[in-house]
Amino acid sequence: MTEDVSRALPLPVRSEELLQRLNTRRSAPAQNLTAPAPQGDDLQTLLSLALRSPDHGKLAPWRLVVLGPQTRADLAQKLTAMAERLPDPVKGKAVLGKLANPPLTVLVVSSPIQGHKVPVWEQELSAGAVCMNLEHAANALGYSASWITDWYSFDAEALALFGVKNGEKVAGFIHIGTLPEGPLERPRPLVSERVEILP
Ligand SMILES: Cc1cc2nc3c(=O)[nH]c(=O)nc-3n(C[C@H](O)[C@H](O)[C@H](O)COP(=O)(O)O)c2cc1C
Repeated sequence: MTEDVSRALPLPVRSEELLQRLNTRRSAPAQNLTAPAPQGDDLQTLLSLALRSPDHGKLAPWRLVVLGPQTRADLAQKLTAMAERLPDPVKGKAVLGKLANPPLTVLVVSSPIQGHKVPVWEQELSAGAVCMNLEHAANALGYSASWITDWYSFDAEALALFGVKNGEKVAGFIHIGTLPEGPLERPRPLVSERVEILP
């Protein structure tokens, strides 16, 4: 899939900077993301790094759609009308700001191959890895990012609007841009609570 598939890659080296960044990484509140966002070469870098994600069977069981501001404004307008039939239309409409406002959004669609020996679950996990790598790549380029799904990721009519086909699922909308100030930390699970370390 890459052009130079036989090139030797470097072994990982300890990086205090990367450790520090991973220890302070935090999702952005999507509605607070403003310009600038990656564009040009940075956008290409972002996308190609995201596609370097683990994927059992080399199936690339996902596809990405870059949704620019105009496309999202149009979508949000149509989703506003659809939100009227939700149990809580006010809330359904309020969350649309997270979709419409950020300067850049990448929609990650999980498109697993049904009936393949690699289980669909593993193919879907790979789409999640693409989302996470998009966030890491955005951070590495100096931008903040937010992984959002919201109701329109699970609504058949809304999914058709986004071009998500039968058999596909939204893995996430990854919103990318710049925050005015660093986000607040949130409580984190403790290793001792969540991890069993066996001899
Ligand atoms: C699969 C997935 C779906 C999410 N969907 C939403 C969402 O619909 N609305 C929302 O406000 N945040 C959503 N989030 C973001 C989380 O609520 C939360 O902000 C994020 O996990 C914080 O993680 P971090 O602090 O480690 O970056 C989603 C996160 C993930 C991983």
